[in-house]
Amino acid sequence: MLVILKRDDEEISRQAAQLIAGTVQRNPDLRLGLATGGTMIGVYKELVRLHKQGTLDFSRVVTFNLDEYLGLSATHPQSFHHFMREHFFAHVNIAASNIHIPDGTIRSNYDQYCAGYEEAIHKAGGIDLQLLGIGRNGHIGFNEPTSSIGSRTRLKVLSKETLDDNSKFFAPGEESPRCAITMGIGTILEARKVLLLATGAAKAAAVAKSIEGPVASAVSASSLQLHSDVTFIIDDAAASQLTQRDYYRRVMEMTALLTPERLS
Ligand code: PGA
Repeated sequence: MLVILKRDDEEISRQAAQLIAGTVQRNPDLRLGLATGGTMIGVYKELVRLHKQGTLDFSRVVTFNLDEYLGLSATHPQSFHHFMREHFFAHVNIAASNIHIPDGTIRSNYDQYCAGYEEAIHKAGGIDLQLLGIGRNGHIGFNEPTSSIGSRTRLKVLSKETLDDNSKFFAPGEESPRCAITMGIGTILEARKVLLLATGAAKAAAVAKSIEGPVASAVSASSLQLHSDVTFIIDDAAASQLTQRDYYRRVMEMTALLTPERLS
């Protein structure tokens, strides 16, 4: 795994967008796995900027989002459908028919719906590049602690920590969703390349456990150690509990020298 250390959110957004843009330019038919959350806002902003500059064409790109809250319609301001439209899809030329986000309004036959989502990924040829955030509890997508490392897209009950983190985004008195539809860890591990972004001290423990701890279902992101092509891009605060920071810096320098394509 490649660990790229950056100073702050702005540098992370620029580096991640550069990596995604380079991948799209090399493969205009890219199957791109997308994530939501505060960490992603700067990345989408930068991708939109590159698109508006005329250097980035998404017309043939196919997207698959990781997850959606159960019970929220696409128009709900806290839905991930809404997030994606507001921060990205409304500003770039991705064909509506190429966008896939789990439907939060389904009421029954969850297993069948989730199998259909997996099938859509499979039919598209699999995900080439999967973008990920990380929760304070180490979740990726909504794969809460103790999710099976082999798990697939499914209905998932949200943890107390995630409910607490998310409740602030909902109106006072409004009940926040307790469940979500999420790609599984097994689904994520099948992406050809994975890019995980983390910022801020609140993520430091989860980041350290994911990169330097044992692989354990208690920390879903630690399962990425099993993947052959993972890049973490993290800021100083999120990196503060890593013990091998000097080594990661040396690897970064050598990567820039020997295999610079891994950074762009
Ligand atoms: P955040 O969410 O970017 O809003 O911190 C990340 C996550 O929970 O996956």
